[in-house]
Amino acid sequence: MEIKMFTFPPHGDDRGQLVAIEEGIDLPFDVRRVYYIYDTLPGVRRGFHAHLQLQQILLCVNGSCKIHLDNGYETAEVVLDKPNEGLYISSNMWREMYDFSEGAVLLVLASEHYTEADYIRNYDAFLEMVRKQRGTEPR
Ligand code: TYD
Repeated sequence: MEIKMFTFPPHGDDRGQLVAIEEGIDLPFDVRRVYYIYDTLPGVRRGFHAHLQLQQILLCVNGSCKIHLDNGYETAEVVLDKPNEGLYISSNMWREMYDFSEGAVLLVLASEHYTEADYIRNYDAFLEMVRKQRGTEPR
């Protein structure tokens, strides 16, 4: 599976680092929502869903975590451990987040407002949907 990473250049100087992310310039979608996940307890795995429309970019702005991706045909594991590196997740992609380090902060830039109607939370229903879209059985 093709993994799309976005690297945002840090503006570093002798005071430290600063990363700017601008809609219409640095991103493939307009940002309607920002949320972040922190204080994640050890051993927690979360996500377990796909989205019908939503696109996202995930940045672990502190610490590290791993993202499991599944398009119904292939899976991938991505380590996020750089505060200026974002993982693009398209719609119709099952995702799980895990292995959060102590102090990890996962920042999410999202293309849509929060709506439960955009979620696919049942893995079998997700497989069925992508199978219908491609017209073949998942491998
Ligand atoms: P949840 O979907 O369980 O998070 P994850 O996908 O990381 O497992 O969301 C946790 C709670 O936060 C749940 O009650 C819904 C709420 N929530 C919002 O209110 N707005 C949001 O943008 C998101 C992502 C979640």
